[in-house]
Amino acid sequence: MTRSATLTYGDKRIELPVIEGSEGELAVDVTQLRAQTGLITLDPGYGNTGACLSTITYIDGEKGILRYRGIPIEELAERSSFIETAWLLIFGKLPTQAQLDHFSARLTAHAPLHESFKHHFEGFPVNAPPMAMLSAMINTLCCFYPEVQDMTEEDFFEEATRLVSKVRTIAAYTYRRSLGLPFIYPDPKLRYVTNFLHMMFSMPFDQHIASREVVEALNLILLLHADHEQNCSTSTVRVVGSSRANLFSSCAAGVCALWGPLHGGANVAVLDMLEAIHKGGLSAEHTLEMAKDKKSGFKLMGFGHRVYKNFDPRAVILKKSADKVLGQLGVNDPLLDIARRLEELALKDSYFVERKLYPNVDFYSGILMRAMGIPTNMFTVIFAIGRMPGWIAHWKEQHDSEGGRIARPRQIYTGPTTSAYVPVSER
Ligand code: MLT
Repeated sequence: MTRSATLTYGDKRIELPVIEGSEGELAVDVTQLRAQTGLITLDPGYGNTGACLSTITYIDGEKGILRYRGIPIEELAERSSFIETAWLLIFGKLPTQAQLDHFSARLTAHAPLHESFKHHFEGFPVNAPPMAMLSAMINTLCCFYPEVQDMTEEDFFEEATRLVSKVRTIAAYTYRRSLGLPFIYPDPKLRYVTNFLHMMFSMPFDQHIASREVVEALNLILLLHADHEQNCSTSTVRVVGSSRANLFSSCAAGVCALWGPLHGGANVAVLDMLEAIHKGGLSAEHTLEMAKDKKSGFKLMGFGHRVYKNFDPRAVILKKSADKVLGQLGVNDPLLDIARRLEELALKDSYFVERKLYPNVDFYSGILMRAMGIPTNMFTVIFAIGRMPGWIAHWKEQHDSEGGRIARPRQIYTGPTTSAYVPVSER
């Protein structure tokens, strides 16, 4: 049955088609609204705007459901790996063993950076923010692999694989640069996550092989961050890609969007908040009272989510992992104690419960990464490694979409009406 919505405006009455998604969600198609009525829609922040049709990720924010290509996140977290999930997102189906082996071999082959990258990195000040270096260096890949500008279907596999692999090497090098340490080459014998931690923490004379607990926890963090439909950075990748900008540049733009404290930077903001609570000698009870008092100017970071109205399924999985890993690693850290006390009290406090302000994925990923010995300035960089398969999948879907048009929203102008130019001598 074709459905429609009726809009009455002045003496006009028009029918707008209603589109139905595969999970039953409905949208009014307003593409002809302006042509038929002269009206546009206004939705700052796009909170109620569907920007595209997508087959990649499904979220039901009321029920706390997240699925990649139809598979529940809980099942992937339990049974899959980041690399297998990356394939699922990018190529649409779970890989066969042969496909997975080939993907893994190509990821290994693409891990080293061109030697010139060392000089690029050396040009950055030692205190350069890792996210700035990450975005710049992903864009720099276009200079070394110009074929990304005009890819065939076969090229896409190779360039997507190159990006998933090299983002991890670049990420590790941003950390080495921030400490003035020598760059460590990838080790082809190591798998994706272990190799990343080797490039971050080894010394030329002492190889760092992370413990199984740490590798599993980081693999889980990456997998849980791999996609989240039309979030700010993914929308950015799609908007930039809609101008036919290449895959690497579009994803470099995604890194910039992710950097902000309202998006991927929130995991850093959580740690900054815990640090401030600790330094100020505040109790968790007092902190929660401040969070309730609108006049205090204090914001509890890492609680609540724009889309999830009950709980964030990723946070539920990470909480379990954080409880396990903190126990296994036997970490003794006052910031982690504060985090756990805040969580415990907030989950029992009617103010937070009624407002659905549950700890979100950034809260648990922050404390988990801290427990794993990952420095705070790398938290958002790690989020970016995790989100890369999602960005690539969305770039490709947008690129292949039929009649794909450049993103070009409208606006309601509220500035001055026609005004005369006044020469500077008369102002
Ligand atoms: C994300 O994973 O991108 C964040 O939870 C933000 C969002 O979905 O809006």
